[in-house]
Amino acid sequence: MVPAFIFRLAAFGAFPLTALASIERPQCKANPLESTWPRSTQWAALNESINGALISTSPVASSCWNGSNYDSPFSCQTVESNWSSSVFHASLPESIGAWIFANNSCVPPTASGYTEVQGCRLGGLPSYIVNATDEQQIATALRWASDRDVRVVVKGTGHDLNGRSSGAFALSIWTRHFRRLERKTAWKVPGPANTTQDVIIAGSGHGWGDVLDFALSQGRVVTTGQDPSVGLGGYIQGGGHGPLASTYGLAAQQVLQMTIVTPTGEVLIADDSQNTDLFWAIRGGGGGQYGIVTEYVIMHFTAPESVNFGSIMLAPLNEAGENASLDAAAVLFKALPNLMDQGVAGAMSLASGEAAGKFNPSAPSETKGAVATFAIWSFNMSESCLDGLIKPVADQMRAQGDNSTLSVSYSASNVGNYSTFCSSISGSNTAGAGGISSSRLLGRRHLEIPHATLRSNLERALVAQNETAGTYMTIGLSGGPGVINKPDSRFGAILPAWKSAYLHLLVGGASASPNATVSPTTALSENAEWIDAHKEKLWREWAPDSGSYMNEANPYNTHFKHDFYGANYERLLQIKHKYDPNQSLFVLSGVGSDKWEYNLQSGKLCRI
Ligand SMILES: Cc1cc2nc3c(=O)[nH]c(=O)nc-3n(C[C@H](O)[C@H](O)[C@H](O)COP(=O)(O)OP(=O)(O)OC[C@H]3O[C@@H](n4cnc5c(N)ncnc54)[C@H](O)[C@@H]3O)c2cc1C
Ligand SMILES: *[C@@H]1O[C@H](CO)[C@@H](O)[C@H](O)[C@H]1NC(C)=O
Ligand SMILES: *[C@@H]1O[C@H](CO)[C@@H](O)[C@H](O)[C@H]1NC(C)=O
Ligand SMILES: *[C@@H]1O[C@H](CO)[C@@H](O)[C@H](O)[C@H]1NC(C)=O
Ligand SMILES: *[C@@H]1O[C@H](CO)[C@@H](O)[C@H](O)[C@H]1NC(C)=O
Ligand SMILES: *[C@@H]1O[C@H](CO)[C@@H](O)[C@H](O)[C@H]1NC(C)=O
Ligand SMILES: *[C@@H]1O[C@H](CO)[C@@H](O)[C@H](O)[C@H]1NC(C)=O
Ligand SMILES: *[C@@H]1O[C@H](CO)[C@@H](O)[C@H](O)[C@H]1NC(C)=O
Ligand SMILES: *[C@@H]1O[C@H](CO)[C@@H](O)[C@H](O)[C@H]1NC(C)=O
Ligand SMILES: *[C@@H]1O[C@H](CO)[C@@H](O)[C@H](O)[C@H]1NC(C)=O
Ligand SMILES: *[C@@H]1O[C@H](CO)[C@@H](O)[C@H](O)[C@H]1NC(C)=O
Ligand SMILES: *[C@@H]1O[C@H](CO)[C@@H](O)[C@H](O)[C@H]1NC(C)=O
Ligand SMILES: *[C@@H]1O[C@H](CO)[C@@H](O)[C@H](O)[C@H]1NC(C)=O
Repeated sequence: MVPAFIFRLAAFGAFPLTALASIERPQCKANPLESTWPRSTQWAALNESINGALISTSPVASSCWNGSNYDSPFSCQTVESNWSSSVFHASLPESIGAWIFANNSCVPPTASGYTEVQGCRLGGLPSYIVNATDEQQIATALRWASDRDVRVVVKGTGHDLNGRSSGAFALSIWTRHFRRLERKTAWKVPGPANTTQDVIIAGSGHGWGDVLDFALSQGRVVTTGQDPSVGLGGYIQGGGHGPLASTYGLAAQQVLQMTIVTPTGEVLIADDSQNTDLFWAIRGGGGGQYGIVTEYVIMHFTAPESVNFGSIMLAPLNEAGENASLDAAAVLFKALPNLMDQGVAGAMSLASGEAAGKFNPSAPSETKGAVATFAIWSFNMSESCLDGLIKPVADQMRAQGDNSTLSVSYSASNVGNYSTFCSSISGSNTAGAGGISSSRLLGRRHLEIPHATLRSNLERALVAQNETAGTYMTIGLSGGPGVINKPDSRFGAILPAWKSAYLHLLVGGASASPNATVSPTTALSENAEWIDAHKEKLWREWAPDSGSYMNEANPYNTHFKHDFYGANYERLLQIKHKYDPNQSLFVLSGVGSDKWEYNLQSGKLCRI
């Protein structure tokens, strides 16, 4: 309850509101260097109130550091050999895939980003972790943290590319052990109508691989990402695109209900008939911001009976073919919306410089042109039908050069059912993506532009800070009919740019990396600056009316309100304030995050 004197002061207007705010809310979130940090007896009391589920953070690679104060369940050798596996990081309470956001603190000597000066300390890792198994534990811990101004972070798998599942001096809620997985063929649809729906109910601790396997065992599919180890929590809340997106839509469009614990400690059910504001926000408004989801009710679909799988490979054969390869890439990009409308799906990489050789061994060892590897798939479509759609495009690409300068090859075949297909496209569950990327969604209007402009945009998207090393971009055929044709009610807070998106472009190119004299903070900010000057600038010219896919975007985007949330921003901010009044949950580029500064150097999170 607000004390009466505050009302009086406020009513007189003599008391500046900022002063009021500072009485109720300290400048910084609690940290161990200040007296507001809970004493160990208080942490012990919290632990007791949540059935002993509190873990004091201990970095797994501490076994690689002599004289470290921490224990690790694994030998340094085991840690080193598993460091590049995101399955490994997901299995641990504290670990994350993108360690630069943990300040590269306590990484094994063979890991990228290792420097001896970083030492073995907590760095950007949370101080304590709740290994939660039920909602009440989370509710108790969140209320406790909110009352004490302790920062809260959420870890599902720790896959986040932007450090959003970690944070210095935080209490982390680890959701891995919410493992319900069940199909309900006659789930009662919330609301007055007496209707039922065939759904899957999944705890947010699962990786998508588990949920897909469960669905496939019953001839069904769910809208996963390409990599089985990605988790439900952050993927769904950011949107979630994968191999079925252009057919059935984004993951956030499949959610019918969720169970969520709010930062003030309420356990709520959110769906189309109750807590509808939260239901709207969680579907696309960003993970780790409004509350902690423990369970999702999602739609599933009949598994495709047959899948065609193939590729277009494009490469210049020599220097004379470099320009033609960019022309051919532009021709391909322009053709994609029509192909997608006709049922073609896929994902592509476009690379330059030395990076090109990684995608296409027959490409020149270094090229200023573009090397494309386009994986194509289509469901329930005859091979001849797919060939009929792709071959004319491949011919048009070839016509940009000749067979002494340019190579364009196409092949595809029926690979059987969805299970077989999935095992051939599944990623390698790799962890450790380093630098900063940038993302843009493109609609038909951004591709049906003059050829020379499109070509030059692609060339700019492939610019690398180190030209010799080059860079690559990943292009997801992630929008299209499955996403666009959904009714407004299924969009929730998904960025409105998805309503007309066909392609998702994910680009890199910045090359600063931390070393003994360049701290992670400095490397991150140098990369962010370069990305802004080269890639964000390009998007602002090419597709100013569009935006980014926040889960694979630049977390230091200076236009994040527009690019990540668009017209939904103000409403999301209101919902954020309603459910998280003490702002326990902070993530980079989160709603309301512009009022805070997270300093990876000091670890402090303070109002600005
Ligand atoms: C190898 C790899 C492949 C990928 N492939 C794809 C892809 O094909 N398609 C795609 O769309 N994206 C893909 N991504 C990006 C992916 O969407 C993001 O990394 C996403 O954040 C993962 O969510 P998570 O819950 O697994 O990760 P986490 O790191 O655990 O969480 C990510 C964010 O969500 C929050 N969060 C997690 N769980 C909850 C919860 N239960 N309640 C509230 N907040 C929560 C966290 O606080 C954090 O902010 C990929 C990432 C990797 C590393
Ligand atoms: C919490 O309690 C459990 C059970 O008593 C104990 O094993 C664990 O070490 C405690 N956690 C902390 C951080 O003290
Ligand atoms: C740690 O100690 C072992 C055994 O004393 C030694 O062989 C090793 O070189 C030390 N490692 C480091 C990083 O100091
Ligand atoms: C480490 O990797 C090896 C080989 O890939 C695997 O067998 C082992 O289970 C992994 N260990 C852990 C702890 O994940
Ligand atoms: C992060 O690393 C830098 C050195 O690169 C160090 O000065 C700083 O204290 C570290 N921050 C934290 C929170 O550990
Ligand atoms: C977390 O809790 C689960 C379920 O109780 C348990 O099996 C697991 O060992 C715990 N993990 C850690 C690291 O405490
Ligand atoms: C709802 O439908 C079920 C099954 O069709 C039926 O048994 C039940 O009587 C219906 N209830 C109402 C209130 O209409
Ligand atoms: C493929 O065909 C099966 C059987 O007709 C059907 O149930 C399924 O919905 C189809 N899938 C797609 C993606 O067209
Ligand atoms: C490629 O195009 C650029 C202009 O975009 C031009 O300067 C260059 O000479 C061309 N190279 C070849 C080999 O034609
Ligand atoms: C290359 O193209 C020329 C002219 O179209 C054609 O005559 C020749 O057979 C082609 N060579 C190969 C190897 O395809
Ligand atoms: C898919 O095909 C494989 C190989 O033919 C088979 O083992 C599997 O049972 C099939 N799965 C489904 C869901 O039909
Ligand atoms: C640029 O990349 C090349 C090839 O990977 C590498 O040899 C070179 O050292 C890099 N240059 C700089 C300035 O980092
Ligand atoms: C660290 O990197 C910077 C920038 O690339 C470089 O100037 C510096 O010499 C490097 N320092 C060390 C110790 O490697």
